[in-house]
Amino acid sequence: MTEDVSGYKIVHRDEPTMYFFGVTTSRSTIMRVFPVWAEILGLDRAQLIGVDIPLHAEAEQYRKAVAQIKYDPLSLGALVTTHKIDVLEAAGDMFDELDKYARLCGDLSCISKRDNRLIGHAKDPIAAGSSLQHIFKPGYWDRTGGHVLCIGAGGSAISITYYLMARPEPGDRPKRIIVVNRSQPRLDKLRSIVAGLPPTIEVMYILNEDPVRNDKIMADLPAGSMVINATGMGKDRPGSPITDDGVFPMRGIAWELNYRGELDFMHQAMAQERQRNLTIHDGWQYFLYGWSDHIAEVFHKEIAEDLFDQLAEVAEVIRPSSDSR
Ligand SMILES: NC(=O)c1ccc[n+]([C@@H]2O[C@H](COP(=O)([O-])OP(=O)(O)OC[C@H]3O[C@@H](n4cnc5c(N)ncnc54)[C@H](OP(=O)(O)O)[C@@H]3O)[C@@H](O)[C@H]2O)c1
Repeated sequence: MTEDVSGYKIVHRDEPTMYFFGVTTSRSTIMRVFPVWAEILGLDRAQLIGVDIPLHAEAEQYRKAVAQIKYDPLSLGALVTTHKIDVLEAAGDMFDELDKYARLCGDLSCISKRDNRLIGHAKDPIAAGSSLQHIFKPGYWDRTGGHVLCIGAGGSAISITYYLMARPEPGDRPKRIIVVNRSQPRLDKLRSIVAGLPPTIEVMYILNEDPVRNDKIMADLPAGSMVINATGMGKDRPGSPITDDGVFPMRGIAWELNYRGELDFMHQAMAQERQRNLTIHDGWQYFLYGWSDHIAEVFHKEIAEDLFDQLAEVAEVIRPSSDSR
């Protein structure tokens, strides 16, 4: 059944429904993982519906997607990927409440409802932070003197920067984070967020889309540095932000935020894995932490560590092999 509410065509769902706002949602492994997790979590008849939205879409498209959750009782919330900044900019006024991270970071990754109030959360600093904890042992940056090069200054880059800057132990923070983005507004946004935080890390902002220049920036990094592909290239769009000639830092860490798609950046790192003594991570842990946390929020569930381990174990069986990611 559909109904016009405040100028939006709202579909009244028959089952508790969570949405997934992304770009190519049907290809995400969560579509196969969700029904299995829903059973383990006892989410009776729960559905996950993908909403594909083109990159930087018109504001009305974001508002329509948010209105569906706001006005339909059984539409319980959403996980937002890729459009985290755009959703908040286009539809921020439709929310009754924004959590601390959403206000601070200017993006939102999770939409939920409590007592009929529409709430926007930025949960990415938690998922990105859990992933970084999984990657690094305490004191890593102090021991190695490495820096972070993050290519892409979108929602994930904001979360990663925020998380690292907020580490209480100086040894758990790199001395410098270099953020590269192809357009100026995202760099300005990050700069304004960083300006509101204690200056625990030097952050450099570089406007650039030329992969050859990224190679040069990467070549200047000290040993042990981390290079992050936070552009979506190799999944949302073809290619990589570096060229095949780009040389990773010795004993460095390459982190591709995605776990599916062509993953060109990750393959470029894999080609140098031995020669440069690299450690390579994809976005699988990020995926697990992010989705479990968002599902817990939307369906008002607690997911303790042993339950998370169980969810991770069943997801691993469904996870695409490296050939078909
Ligand atoms: N594994 C997981 O669970 C997980 C979790 C979060 C994110 N991700 C993935 O990580 C990627 C980034 O996510 P996000 O939320 O940060 O997306 P986002 O907000 O769209 O940010 C991407 C940023 O990269 C910039 N960019 C694109 N191509 C570039 C290039 N060649 N050089 C420099 N900058 C470039 C974009 O600039 P413009 O502003 O000019 O477009 C944008 O600011 C996405 O593909 C997402 O799917 C995965």
